[in-house]
Amino acid sequence: MNLQAPSRHRNADLDAVLADAFERFTAANPMSRERHQGAMASLPGGNTRAVLWYRPFPVTLVGGEGCYVEDLDGHRYADLVSEYSAGLYGHSDKTIAKAMVEVIEGGLALGAPNRYEAAYGAAIVDRFPAIERVRFCNSGTEANIMALSMARAITGRKKIIAMKEGYHGGVLTFAHGGSPLNLPFPFVFADYNDIDGTLALIKEHAADLAAVILEPMMGGGGCIPATKEFLLALREATQKAGALLIFDEVMTSRLHYRALHGAHGINPDLLTLGKYLGGGASFGAFGGRADLMDRFDPAAPGAFSHGGTFNNNLLSMAGGMAGFTKVLTEEASRAVNERGDRLRGALNKALADHRVAGVVLGRGSLMNIHFVPGPVTSPEPLDHVDGRIMSLYHVEMLLRGQHVTPRGMLALSIPFGDAEVDGFVAAFDDFLATHRSLLPQA
Ligand SMILES: Cc1ncc(COP(=O)(O)O)c(C=O)c1O
Repeated sequence: MNLQAPSRHRNADLDAVLADAFERFTAANPMSRERHQGAMASLPGGNTRAVLWYRPFPVTLVGGEGCYVEDLDGHRYADLVSEYSAGLYGHSDKTIAKAMVEVIEGGLALGAPNRYEAAYGAAIVDRFPAIERVRFCNSGTEANIMALSMARAITGRKKIIAMKEGYHGGVLTFAHGGSPLNLPFPFVFADYNDIDGTLALIKEHAADLAAVILEPMMGGGGCIPATKEFLLALREATQKAGALLIFDEVMTSRLHYRALHGAHGINPDLLTLGKYLGGGASFGAFGGRADLMDRFDPAAPGAFSHGGTFNNNLLSMAGGMAGFTKVLTEEASRAVNERGDRLRGALNKALADHRVAGVVLGRGSLMNIHFVPGPVTSPEPLDHVDGRIMSLYHVEMLLRGQHVTPRGMLALSIPFGDAEVDGFVAAFDDFLATHRSLLPQA
C-alpha cells in the first residue's frame, strides 16, 4: 500500500509550509530553545531519552495539573502524550500524591521488605488473570529482559520469536531494522497478525525456541490491535512447541481493568508490566505462572537470583498501589477507555470528512493517527508515511495547544474529559482544513 506519489510542486510546498511552522514554533518558544541549546553542553544532543527529541527542538515542561501541562514559555497544553501512556492518572492525582508524601516523610531507602510490596503484588495477582506470582523491577525494558532471560534459562533453548517493528525497550527495539544496541539474543522475526507465517516460524524453530514475545496491541508499532485469532493461534502453537508465550503489557494493560489479555480471555505464560503502574514513578514488573515464577524463591534449590536495588522502592510501591487500587477502579478504567473509543471515532470521521487518506488505529485510551489509508493490520504500510507530514501535524498541534507525540500516538489520562476530547477534535479538524492540500488525498 503506497501513498500517492506527491508532485514536485506539492513537495516544495510541504517544505515551505513546514519551515514556516518551525519558524512560528521557534518564535513562540524562546525559553525552551535556550534551555535545549544549553543542555547540549552536558547531554548528547541535549537529550537523555530518545523519544523526547524532535525538530526543531522539544518544549521544556515545567509542570502539570490534571490532564494539562505547562511549558517554560508559559503555554498550557491539553496533554495527549500522557508520558507515553505512563501518565494514566494525569499529573496531580491527590490520592497518589498523598501516598508518596507519606513514604517520603516516613523514611526512604530502607533496605528491607516494606509494608507495600506484598500488598501491591497481591492486588496485581488478584486483578490480572495471567499473573499468579509477580516480581517488581524498575522499567518495562528490565521486565522484558528478565522474562526473556528466564524463558531461555527454563527451557534450555536460545531463540526468541518477536514481531517486526515491535518495541519492548531500549535494548529490544525492532523498528526500522532494529538497533545495534539490542541484546545479542538470536531473534527471529514474524509479521504481526500473520497467523500462517508465524505458525510456520514456530514450527521451523521449535527445537531451539525459548519464547514468543509480542504485545497484544502493538503500541510503539502504531497501535495495531492483534486479532484474537492470532493470539489464540500463538497460545496453542507455543504450548505445542514447548516454548513460553510472553505478552508485553507494559502499555496495553491500561486498556482493560483486567489488562488486554484479560479482555481477550487468553493467558500467556509470562506477562510484563510497566508505565502507569508506578503511579508516576519508575516501574517494571514481570509475572505469570507460579511454577515458572517460583524459580525465583531464594529458598528453592537452584533458585534464580534477581537483584535490583530499587525493585521495591517505596515511591513506586506506595504510589503505584494507591493508583492501582484506589484510582483505577473498574469504572474509571471503563470510562477512560470508552472516552478513547469516542475520540478515535471522531478523529476517523474528521479524516473522512476532509477526504484525507488517514486512519486512527488503536483501542480504548491508546491510539495512533496515521496518514495512510486504512484499514491497517500490520506495521508494514505505516513505513511509507512522509516524515515531514508527521512533523507538520506535530508542530501544528502543539501550536494549537495540544501536547502530542511526533509519531501520532495519543494516550488519554483519567482526568481527560469530554471537553478535552471535543477540544482536540476541533484542533485536529482545523489542522486538516488548513493543510488538506498537502496531505494524502482519499
Ligand atoms: C510495549 C513496551 N514494552 C516495553 C517498554 C519499555 O519500558 P520502559 O521505558 O519502562 O523501559 C515500552 C516503553 O515504551 C513499551 O511501550
